[in-house]
Amino acid sequence: MSESEQLTELAKRRGFFLQTAGVYGGVAGFYTYGPAGATLKDNLEAAWRDRFVTREGHMEIDAPTVMPEPVFEASGHLDGFDDMIIECVECGASHRADHLVEDYPELDVEDAEALPTEEVAELIAEHEIACPACGASLAGEPVEEFNLMFATNIGPGSSSPGYLRPETAQGIFVEFPQLAEYARNQLPFGVAQIGKAYRNEISPRKALIRVREFTQAELEHFIDPEADEPPLERVADVTLPLYSVEQQQADDGEIQEVTVTEAIEEGIIESDWVAFYLGLAKGWYERIGVDMDRFRYRQHLPGELAHYAADCWDAEAELAGDWVEVTGFATRGSYDLDKHAEHSGEEFSVFKQYDEPITVERPTVDPEMSYLGPEFGDAAGEIVAALESLAERDPDAFDGETVTVEAGGEEYEIPVEQTGFAIEEVTESGEHVTPEVIEPSFGVGRLVYTVLAHAYEEDVVDDEERTYLSLPPELAPTTVGVFPLMDKDGLGEKAQELAGELREAGLSVTYDDAGAIGRRYRRQDEVGTPFCVTVDYETLEDGTVTVRERDSTEQARVDVDGLGAVLSALRDGEQSFGEL
Ligand code: ATP
Ligand code: GLY
Repeated sequence: MSESEQLTELAKRRGFFLQTAGVYGGVAGFYTYGPAGATLKDNLEAAWRDRFVTREGHMEIDAPTVMPEPVFEASGHLDGFDDMIIECVECGASHRADHLVEDYPELDVEDAEALPTEEVAELIAEHEIACPACGASLAGEPVEEFNLMFATNIGPGSSSPGYLRPETAQGIFVEFPQLAEYARNQLPFGVAQIGKAYRNEISPRKALIRVREFTQAELEHFIDPEADEPPLERVADVTLPLYSVEQQQADDGEIQEVTVTEAIEEGIIESDWVAFYLGLAKGWYERIGVDMDRFRYRQHLPGELAHYAADCWDAEAELAGDWVEVTGFATRGSYDLDKHAEHSGEEFSVFKQYDEPITVERPTVDPEMSYLGPEFGDAAGEIVAALESLAERDPDAFDGETVTVEAGGEEYEIPVEQTGFAIEEVTESGEHVTPEVIEPSFGVGRLVYTVLAHAYEEDVVDDEERTYLSLPPELAPTTVGVFPLMDKDGLGEKAQELAGELREAGLSVTYDDAGAIGRRYRRQDEVGTPFCVTVDYETLEDGTVTVRERDSTEQARVDVDGLGAVLSALRDGEQSFGEL
C-alpha cells in the first residue's frame, strides 16, 4: 500500500475521516470527519485560534456561508475564480488541464496554473497526454476556464442568485465599515474567521487535500501601509525555508534557509508583514507536528497569483512525494476594500485623526454657470466635473489664459477666469485611509491530513510490528487511555472510577477493557493517544498506576493522587515524561 492509501485506510478504520455517503456510492470531494478526526480538527482549530487570534489580540467573526451575488461581483470571483478544464470526448470525464501537464513525467512543469490556457492545450496536444480515466488521447481538445463557485438561489425563484462562499475572507471584507467601528477606527487591526468554504473542484483528489467543501482559518490583517510596521523583533531569528520565484526559475534553484531578518535585508521577501507571518507561522507548524524536513515556503510565480494578490507565499508540506499548499500568505493590498466601496457606494476606509490639525493648500474651482450653460448646453455638467478633477490632479493646468478639459469624448477650451479656480487654505483634522490587507489563509483539512501523514510511524515493539501516530499531545483526539489490567477483582471498577476522575480534571479519556493489554496499547497508539494508564493489583495495594508513553513505550509508576495534574502537565508540555 502507498503512504496515502495506508493513511486513508487507517483514517477510516480509526474514525479520522471517511468518504461521505458511502452507502450511496460516495460523493467525490466530500469527506466526513469521524469521532477521532472531528476532535483532532477541533484541537487544531483551537491551537490556531490560540496563536493567531488570542495571542495576537485580534477579533473573530462568524459570517454566513451563502452570500448574495453582488458580493462576488465586487470581489471579482464571479469573473475570475476559474480553473482550467479539459473534457474527454470518449468517456466524458473532466480534468484539471494544468494538473495533467504537471503530472506528465516527461514535462518538467511545476506550476502549469501560471500558463495561459492556449499553452496548456498545446502541451497536451504536443505530448498526446491521455485521459486518466479511460486512456484516450486528449490532444486537440479545448482547454477552458471553469468557475469554481457553487451557485444557488436565495429564497424561492431565481430573482436573488447567491453563491456558497469560495473563501471565508469576503464575509470579513463586506463587514469592514462595521468592523472598523468595533476596532475604534484604529489601524492596524486583524479579523479572523474559521469556517467552511466551497469550491466545485474539477477533479477532487487525494482525500482531504482537494475537496469541494473544506474549512479555512483566515486572518485579514488591516494595516496602514504608510505607518504600520510588524513586530519583526519577535521573529527576527526564525529560519525560513524559502523557495523564491528567482530560485524556481533558476536551473539549479534551491530552497534557501535564511532568517526572517536576512530574507528582508536580501530582498527575498518584499513585504515585512508577510515575512513576519511566515516567521510566526513556522513556530506554529512545528507546534502542531508538521515535519520541518518536509516543509517549505514557496513564492507564487507571476501568472499563478490570484486576481486580488500582489504577492503570495505558500506554506507547502511534502505528502507522498508531492508538495501540497497548506496555507497562502497573500498581500491583497486595498483590492477588496476598493472594490466593495466602488460597488456598494459605502465608505470602506478609516478616518485617521492627526495629532495636530494641519493647514493645507487645496485647489478648487467654482465655475461660472451663467457662462458655461449658454456656451456648452447639455455638456456643462460634465465640464464642471472634469474641471474639478483636473484642479485636483494638475493645478498647474490653470496657469494660462485658458484651460482644456475632456468631457463626453470631446475637448473644450474654457477661459480660466470663468472656472473660479483658486487655491484655498484648508484646515484638516485627519484623512481617510483605505487599509491594505495581509492575509494568512490556512486550509484546516489539508493541515489535519499533513499532521496525520507526518505523525504516521511504524516500528517494532516486543517483536511485534506496530503503527502509531506521533501526534503532539495538544492535538491528539484522546489524551489518556485508561485500562484495568483485567476486568476482575475490582480492577475494572477502580479503573472506571479513575477514568471519571481524569475526565473531571478536564482530560480527554478513553476507557478500554477489551482484549489483551498489548492490543489495547496498539489501539491507542494508532489513534495517537500520548499516554495510557493501567490499573493493576499494585494499584489496590499502594495507590499507584502504570503510565506509559506512546512514542518511547516507556513506563513509570505514578501515584493516583494528583494523577490528573501530572497528565495535564504532560499534555501541556509543562513536564516531560522523563521527569516522572
Ligand atoms: P490549490 O492551488 O491547491 O488549488 P489554492 O491556491 O486554490 O490551492 P487558496 O485559494 O490559496 O488555495 O486557498 C487557501 C487555502 O485553502 C489553501 O492553502 C488550502 O489549504 C485551502 N484549500 C483551497 N482549496 C482547497 C480544496 N479544494 N480542498 C481543501 N483545501 C483547500
Ligand atoms: N482567502 C484566500 C483564498 O481562499 O484563496
